[in-house]
Amino acid sequence: MKHLIDIKDLSVEEIDDLIEVAKDIINHKEKYSHKCDGKKLATLFFEPSTRTRLSFEAAMMELGGNVIGFSEASSSSVAKGETVSDTIRVVGCYSDIIAMRHPKEGAPYVASIKSEVPIINAGDGGHNHPTQTLTDLLTIKCEKGRLDNLNIGLCGDLKFGRTVHSLITAMSRYKNIKFFLISPDELSLPEYIKRDVLEKNNIEYVETKNIEQYMKDLDILYMTRVQKERFFNEEDYVRLKDYYILNKLKLKKAKKDLCIMHPLPRVNEISTDVDDDPRACYFKQARYGKYIRMALILKLLEVK
Ligand code: NCD
Repeated sequence: MKHLIDIKDLSVEEIDDLIEVAKDIINHKEKYSHKCDGKKLATLFFEPSTRTRLSFEAAMMELGGNVIGFSEASSSSVAKGETVSDTIRVVGCYSDIIAMRHPKEGAPYVASIKSEVPIINAGDGGHNHPTQTLTDLLTIKCEKGRLDNLNIGLCGDLKFGRTVHSLITAMSRYKNIKFFLISPDELSLPEYIKRDVLEKNNIEYVETKNIEQYMKDLDILYMTRVQKERFFNEEDYVRLKDYYILNKLKLKKAKKDLCIMHPLPRVNEISTDVDDDPRACYFKQARYGKYIRMALILKLLEVK
């Protein structure tokens, strides 16, 4: 049985297959509408979510399956003191696959050790978010036509942004990728990712505080929200939250075919005047999320 805890649980070939299946689903939805008849997905969300939870649920419904779960820890027995391991063992009796989000780094991994059904990490603290990365890879493949030869700018909260950590890990396996890490010093990419992912694989990267410095070089600009919930004090958050606000003016030197991405939710980091720019891909990106999650559910349930 296979779980998805870290994006590296999937080989590059497996990711390519998921992308191909997702594209086929987009073009032939009707072929897939009964693939998961009689199956149940449980969504256990111990942290807030809109896109991830609802796209998982919509994905299972469009495959003909059903959904159970909770969207707040306070409405489950966790509020009574139940451990993650016990919750998972029980939910596994009622469902065929579980998507789980938790504020503690490593909680989905702990859950997977005891689970009798596949576990999908839907975000663990400031650590990883592999299904957002699958969404991002499908977006890049569809919008740019390739996953190699790309200059990728990542801007905002690179320290706590779990989507950034998983995306860097995934993209580091493709050819000729260069990263432009754009953040204030206090929110720079954790050392362990620089060392174990970028330097270990000889991936080229530069760090800067200035969003405009490399704008003309970028093929992708991945904006992120400052992760308020991971800060120890409000003051630091308030000082850093509006450090970057992408607007039309800042895009002046950008390539005509730049792809602007954001996992969403956006707070202030992309001005709404960018939304009508044909290079803005973030709402399309949210749509792609459902299709790649459909492909993932099929794979983990071993549905042909
Ligand atoms: C992201 C997350 O939860 O990490 N959201 C998402 O899943 N699309 C990004 C964020 O919350 O900033």
